[in-house]
Amino acid sequence: MDLGEILIDVAAARQPGTPRSSHENRREKAFAAPVIVALGASIVAGGPIPELEQMLSVGAATMNMLNAIHALGYGGFWATGIDTYDEKLKAALDFEPDDKLLGFLFIGTPKNQERTAFRPPRAQHFREWLGRTSI
Ligand SMILES: Cc1cc2nc3c(=O)[nH]c(=O)nc-3n(C[C@H](O)[C@H](O)[C@H](O)COP(=O)(O)O)c2cc1C
Repeated sequence: MDLGEILIDVAAARQPGTPRSSHENRREKAFAAPVIVALGASIVAGGPIPELEQMLSVGAATMNMLNAIHALGYGGFWATGIDTYDEKLKAALDFEPDDKLLGFLFIGTPKNQERTAFRPPRAQHFREWLGRTSI
């Protein structure tokens, strides 16, 4: 079964009683980009590496992928959305039950020129620590 069909199935299962045909628009997501990477984490609990750090590593790896994608002249976009947290979709993508699906990386050639995104003032996200005289 292809991804488009699966996306329709899981959307229909989320809303029992609705006809499958009413979820036909979910198919579009499967064709939103020529390459779609499902991002996952297989967290090892109780080991030497804190679970939070393992999760952060997925973010770092994904950022590296985005940098490589852009350096090669392509575009990439990380999106989560309701499908990401759907256990049925996770299983259909052959993730193990304890694995986490962390979204999708849509990769392709951008249709439009890159826009300059609004960036909030740096001061909202940054503080300089200058030491202190006592604790
Ligand atoms: C974990 C994660 C999940 C995201 N999920 C979505 C999403 O579901 N929908 C969306 O529009 N943007 C989502 N974004 C944001 C976009 O990927 C992108 O970072 C944002 O649009 C800012 O892009 P820009 O920095 O080029 O302006 C997500 C970002 C991250 C890091």
